[in-house]
Amino acid sequence: MTIPVLTIDGPSGAGKGTVSRLLAKKLGWHYLDSGSIYRSLAIALQINSVDVADTNAIVKVAEAMTLEFECGDELQVKLDGVDITPRLGLESTGVIASQIAAMPEVRAVLLQKQQDFRQFPGLVADGRDMGTVVFPDAENKVFLTASAAKRAERRYKQLIEKAIDANLIEIQKAIEERDRRDMERASAPLAMASDALYIDSSELSIAAVIEEILNLIH
Ligand code: DC
Repeated sequence: MTIPVLTIDGPSGAGKGTVSRLLAKKLGWHYLDSGSIYRSLAIALQINSVDVADTNAIVKVAEAMTLEFECGDELQVKLDGVDITPRLGLESTGVIASQIAAMPEVRAVLLQKQQDFRQFPGLVADGRDMGTVVFPDAENKVFLTASAAKRAERRYKQLIEKAIDANLIEIQKAIEERDRRDMERASAPLAMASDALYIDSSELSIAAVIEEILNLIH
């Protein structure tokens, strides 16, 4: 029997993480935050002082690194036994992750690490290419997006709540730049699978998005 997978792809800040985590909990399924794998590799490169343009060296680090995930209220990640959770969400980590994610050699090494998450009773997988490349045979696929302005606003509010200084215009610019890099790369670009359900969350609550996805599954 094949193990069911629900894929949720889309640009950064569309709410994929929150929605995927809640759905995994509701369904009693495992959860893969594939962006955190790219982010962990970005941190491993910083720790090992590897040049982000040196593909061969990056591939070596990607092959050698061991990752342990613990999915409580917040995702916790250990890289080679060291807790890197506080660094995962940093903007600087996301920028490096997006740069190395454009390298096909890097994506090839990380493919199996992601597919290993497919375990009984099921998996919710969140990312950019979950429905197109990593789990093309998934029976349920969603493409979750929102306008760049709305995503910037949400990110701005998150930062302000954490008492981190933020500038809305700069955040929106950074989001648009990241979208462009993720969509224009040649290798597994951010794209909607032809058999995915398109949801624009700009004017929807998290609960409404979850309901729409549960309707798709049932
Ligand atoms: O979802 P995120 O912001 O944590 O992802 C960080 C970067 O990782 C993103 O800019 C592009 C890359 N990524 C990817 O290329 N493919 C995925 N499935 C997930 C993330």
